[in-house]
Amino acid sequence: MTVEERVANSPYPSGGLLEGKVAVITGAGVAEGIGATCAAVFVKEGAQVLTADISGGQVETAVALGPSVSPFRADVTREEDVEAMFAHALEVFGRVDILVNVAGNPGGRRGAEVTVEEFESLTSVHLLGTVLTNKHAVRTMLPTGGGAIVNFSSAAAFNVDGRISPAYSAAKAGVNAVTKAVAVQYGAQGIRANAVAPGFTLSRKNHAVPPEIMADLESRAALGRAGQPEEQAHVAAFLASDRASFVTGVIVPVDGGWSVKLA
Ligand SMILES: NC(=O)c1ccc[n+]([C@@H]2O[C@H](COP(=O)([O-])OP(=O)(O)OC[C@H]3O[C@@H](n4cnc5c(N)ncnc54)[C@H](O)[C@@H]3O)[C@@H](O)[C@H]2O)c1
Repeated sequence: MTVEERVANSPYPSGGLLEGKVAVITGAGVAEGIGATCAAVFVKEGAQVLTADISGGQVETAVALGPSVSPFRADVTREEDVEAMFAHALEVFGRVDILVNVAGNPGGRRGAEVTVEEFESLTSVHLLGTVLTNKHAVRTMLPTGGGAIVNFSSAAAFNVDGRISPAYSAAKAGVNAVTKAVAVQYGAQGIRANAVAPGFTLSRKNHAVPPEIMADLESRAALGRAGQPEEQAHVAAFLASDRASFVTGVIVPVDGGWSVKLA
């Protein structure tokens, strides 16, 4: 089933949660990834969406979701791309109310194996990408009275296990810090900033995880299973919506209870 079909067949009715809102969503280039799923849920909830990605897949996501979506190719580590992405959103939609920053890249080397290349690659996409997208989201939203930012962190920002790359974990801990800084520095001007911290989630890349590792990862969650991309996207939609109007500076674990377990 495609991500659009899964969202269309969701048991949750559209609540018009994001009616009239314009959202920029990065990392929206992989069908069944969390970013593309956020785009589908946001459209279903009434938003107009700019889908951004480095891969070219943002076009496929936009075509699948229809006329309320405009694609834009952007590398979140390049400030000129990020600036151009918000300029494009203003040109097409006239305003930006929401940033959902999902773009991310994988890395799995443990402490004794980490390389400078992996560290730089992970911190540039996750952390510098968050700094730059948040910077230009704030600049774009301030003139229209504010908006909402949702960054994608990870359960690995709180704690680690034997598999998690320390560079990834550190980059995501940095995402939490940036989120709190934006919330504190711009709250009085109408900008809310929160983060979603997923646990193991069945985005497309994780469908290929070998069965024995899959079973181990599923057992980490108190709920005993992996999350679905929609389960991340619905929390992001709530945090981005006016229903979360008094929620800011918060990192929300969406991990089936993984991060609260002792082991
Ligand atoms: N899936 C999980 O289990 C899980 C768990 C914890 C946190 N997360 C976080 O959630 C987010 C989404 O995860 P996912 O599994 O859907 O990932 P994914 O790899 O399926 O999608 C990431 C997207 O980001 C894009 N991207 C990579 N580098 C980019 C760049 N420089 N500029 C713009 N786009 C870029 C990729 O092309 C891809 O479309 C990531 O930030 C990830 O770290 C995921």
